Amino acid sequence: MFGDRERIYGTRDAVATVNSHRYFMAASFREAVANRRSVYELSGKSTLSDKDLGELLRFAVKHTPSAYNSQSTRIVLLTGKAHVDLWEIVKQTLRERIRADAFIRTEQKIDTAFASGYGTVLFFEDMSVIAAMQAQFPVYADRFPLWSDQTNAMHQFVIWTMLEDAGMGASLQHYNPLIDDQVKKEWKLPSEWRLIAQMPFGIPTGKPAEKEFEPLDKRIFMFDR
Ligand SMILES: Cc1cc2nc3c(=O)[nH]c(=O)nc-3n(C[C@H](O)[C@H](O)[C@H](O)COP(=O)(O)O)c2cc1C
Repeated sequence: MFGDRERIYGTRDAVATVNSHRYFMAASFREAVANRRSVYELSGKSTLSDKDLGELLRFAVKHTPSAYNSQSTRIVLLTGKAHVDLWEIVKQTLRERIRADAFIRTEQKIDTAFASGYGTVLFFEDMSVIAAMQAQFPVYADRFPLWSDQTNAMHQFVIWTMLEDAGMGASLQHYNPLIDDQVKKEWKLPSEWRLIAQMPFGIPTGKPAEKEFEPLDKRIFMFDR
């Protein structure tokens, strides 16, 4: 049925005519991958209802791969007051740790680029799952924490790209481990969860900055023998 490559790799409309969900989605996946950017100008609006945001996260978490199919990633979506409270925790934590003059710039960034968004996705790894994997496969025990990070990163990429595809802007932030204890206390999350990243998102109010690309010939090599 898909012997004709022209049809498979044709325009999006042409691809749609082959009536294959799979190939139609492949074209849109390429666009979504290219369009995903770090967006630091966010409004407090969302293109999706909270229910649809939940569905987006459920889809991403279900289908993203994990090391040994460990499914160790945990996701928390904060919206409304919870989202505002998270960024207050970040500000309070930093206020106690950095010089007052430097904090002014930090606070401005947090207010306009992160707290100004509609919500924040928190990415965790359940370390009790990792410990169980280490006990089950002792030969690879020292590898599992690394694979845990990589597993989490895959979830970050899928969710970031799906948010972009839904018309949202997002960025990836790392205020962990400074905020871990307070975040877990605030939302009564298990102590075994390790916070990996924070992804504030919302409908963008500005475009991402120009991005420079290293020559791909320096980064990709192909051999056939
Ligand atoms: C593993 C990883 C960690 C990152 N950490 C941060 C971060 O802490 N803060 C931030 O603003 N951006 C962070 N970024 C975003 C990168 O700076 C950004 O992806 C890169 O400059 C390319 O820009 P783009 O996202 O617009 O394509 C991170 C990205 C990756 C992949």
